[in-house]
Amino acid sequence: MFMEKRFYLETFGCQMNVVDSERIVDLLRKSGYRQVDDSADADLILLNTCSVRDKAERKVYGHLGRYKPLKDANPALILGVGGCVAQQEGERLLEKLPYLDLVFGTHNVHKLPELVKKVEGQRERCLETDFLDKETRLQLFPQRTEGDSVTRFVTVMQGCDNFCSYCIVPHVRGREISRPSGEVLDEVRELAAVGAKEVTLIGQNVNSYGCKEPGELSFAQLLRQVHAIEGIERIRFTTSHPKDLSDDLIDCFGELEKLCKHLHLPVQSGSNRILELMARGYTRDSYLEKVRRLKNVCPDIRLTSDIIVGFPGESEEDFAETLSLMAEVKYLDVYSFIYSPRPGTKAAEMIDDLPAAQRQARFDRLLALQEEHSQQFREAEIGKVLQVLVEGQSRQGEGQLSGRTTWNRIINFDGDTDLIGKIIPVRIVKAFRNSHLGTLINQ
Ligand code: 5AD
Ligand code: SF4
Repeated sequence: MFMEKRFYLETFGCQMNVVDSERIVDLLRKSGYRQVDDSADADLILLNTCSVRDKAERKVYGHLGRYKPLKDANPALILGVGGCVAQQEGERLLEKLPYLDLVFGTHNVHKLPELVKKVEGQRERCLETDFLDKETRLQLFPQRTEGDSVTRFVTVMQGCDNFCSYCIVPHVRGREISRPSGEVLDEVRELAAVGAKEVTLIGQNVNSYGCKEPGELSFAQLLRQVHAIEGIERIRFTTSHPKDLSDDLIDCFGELEKLCKHLHLPVQSGSNRILELMARGYTRDSYLEKVRRLKNVCPDIRLTSDIIVGFPGESEEDFAETLSLMAEVKYLDVYSFIYSPRPGTKAAEMIDDLPAAQRQARFDRLLALQEEHSQQFREAEIGKVLQVLVEGQSRQGEGQLSGRTTWNRIINFDGDTDLIGKIIPVRIVKAFRNSHLGTLINQ
């Protein structure tokens, strides 16, 4: 008797992994698998992993440990690991975890059905972590997957050539490649045709899009062409490296109506000495100058950032520079991380004698300062009427809808599902940490 096979997929990390997971779902569905919400019901369990910090990596081992009893109870269960930990650890994962069946790297998602078949058929453990050449990668670029959501991600480039001294990404995602602009634009048109209203153009560093391809559009030029596509009403992009944020791209925030007034512009540190050690390629002043220009062309733009606390050799003065930069920029939100040495990176070789307690104390001070700023933004919103793109039903319950403002804040409010996909005015009545409550007006 034919039995439909079931898979369970867990995704960690950034949008690149989210997009890869969409592709995994597509591929597995096409090979006869159905996705389930409970790992206990699955014949195949996959983890798409992140290794950007040690904590993220350890989480993967923790989760795998939890699946071991399922595997003990059902030896036919297939357990696989993909993504950045798979790429980084490869063979070592199979050695460390005898109950693991399958390891596939960041360039090998397309091979998944074939690998799963191999494990099923021959009960053979599989490892596939080779990096592919540029031509093959271009042919395999993540493409539009099924779905009809209002907001969609479109991958425009992959990989990274920056080699910031703390970062594992270039090691686990490989060299930077840009997807041909014609393909990107076709995909956005297709998404618009199936009801998408907002696209987020993604890549490890979208600002350097096209730079290495003779004759290709620049990122700002690509953005202008996406802007011209009918049906798309909002555009976002991430992530931006400050050194590659061109004047032309800054001008887009003043010119392009559909471009949301939010930019994630990770600064990492406010100290020139640390920025240099991080090999970031900009100074505090050149960063702040770009922020000034952004605010000049688009006065209500809001910025978010990533900051690393306790980079090797960070002094109290260096840290004070980070806090003063935060006070100057006033970020809407900051994602802050305690420095974590990553294997194979330059920073992992640096002398690192900062006591853990000091790192933690700085981290707490940074969080407290950012919380003040975030709270000011949150509270200033109350009473305002903001334009919200309605994305779907909220997780809170029946009858409640959820959408976002141009600044990417989640707004929940009561309303009818026929508003999904529309941009509507909502009055903000209450602020929570990660969302606002609103009420519909003009209804
Ligand atoms: N330690 C701590 N944080 C890191 N990040 C990247 N590498 C490390 C590391 N080794 C942070 C950076 C980056 C974000 C995605 O993760 O702030 O922007
Ligand atoms: Fe994590 Fe970086 Fe991999 Fe994204 S690319 S999943 S952030 S290690």
